[in-house]
Amino acid sequence: METDSLDRHSPASLRKHIDQVKERHKLPSAPGVVTKVMSLLKDPDFNARDLARFISDDPALAARTLSLARSPLYAQRRRASTVHEAVLVMGYKAVRSLVIATAAQSFMTRKSKIGDKLWSHSLATALAARILARRSRMDDPEMAFLAGLLHDMGHMILCEGDPRGFAQLISEVEQSDESLNLKELALYRFDHASVAFALLDHWNLDEQVNEAVIAHHDSTESRNGSLASTVAMADYLCGKAGLGFYGEVFHPDSDQLHAFGCADESSLNLLVEEVRRAFEQENLLFREN
Ligand SMILES: [Fe+2]
Ligand SMILES: [Fe+2]
Repeated sequence: METDSLDRHSPASLRKHIDQVKERHKLPSAPGVVTKVMSLLKDPDFNARDLARFISDDPALAARTLSLARSPLYAQRRRASTVHEAVLVMGYKAVRSLVIATAAQSFMTRKSKIGDKLWSHSLATALAARILARRSRMDDPEMAFLAGLLHDMGHMILCEGDPRGFAQLISEVEQSDESLNLKELALYRFDHASVAFALLDHWNLDEQVNEAVIAHHDSTESRNGSLASTVAMADYLCGKAGLGFYGEVFHPDSDQLHAFGCADESSLNLLVEEVRRAFEQENLLFREN
């Protein structure tokens, strides 16, 4: 089967692309909690108590929600003593991010070195994208968090479908300067960005997030101010913070560095440090079970 060239601005071309990915790769259904929280938030009659009740059904998720609401990120507001209060302190979208991150973690960490590294990179990119979105005053920093969290999910699909082959590919990338994307394309016909796009479409998550995910390695599409450029920059910061993923290299140009207020070496280092600290704090939450 030949793969048609993809026109990202044509819905028909995107649809055909998704069908081709689905034909070649097995895409799992969305985790139940993700579907549930997305449909809860779309319900016009929804309220904070419904969300708190849903979270309280899962003791580990409830504990994590309370810990995050009491963390320095929200502590300046008020100390939450119940899950309902935690939902009010954090806001619905941040709670949604936490639920989806919890599901993503169990999807990625299957006691493999690649899965663990992918999870750390995904959480770090999500946090970096949220920091950048706040810096550039984007309307919805939680959208940036989700795009960062899920941008490399395609690696996991490729790895699950061919664990030995993918591990071999990673070791080849580690020993050379070759691009992981090009090697994925050659071996699996689609790179991880294309596969993640098809997966997230299958999960019916959010179109804006899907668009950023498919374009996160495309320098022409990663325009300043776009969600894709925020994810690409977050990816770069994570690489500098020692939280990158094998062979993924992106170098922002001076306009992009300038757009995020880190055109000089010292402000860039401060930003990298901020990302590293945010990761260390939030990663603790995901280690508690
Ligand atoms: Fe990537
Ligand atoms: Fe990445």
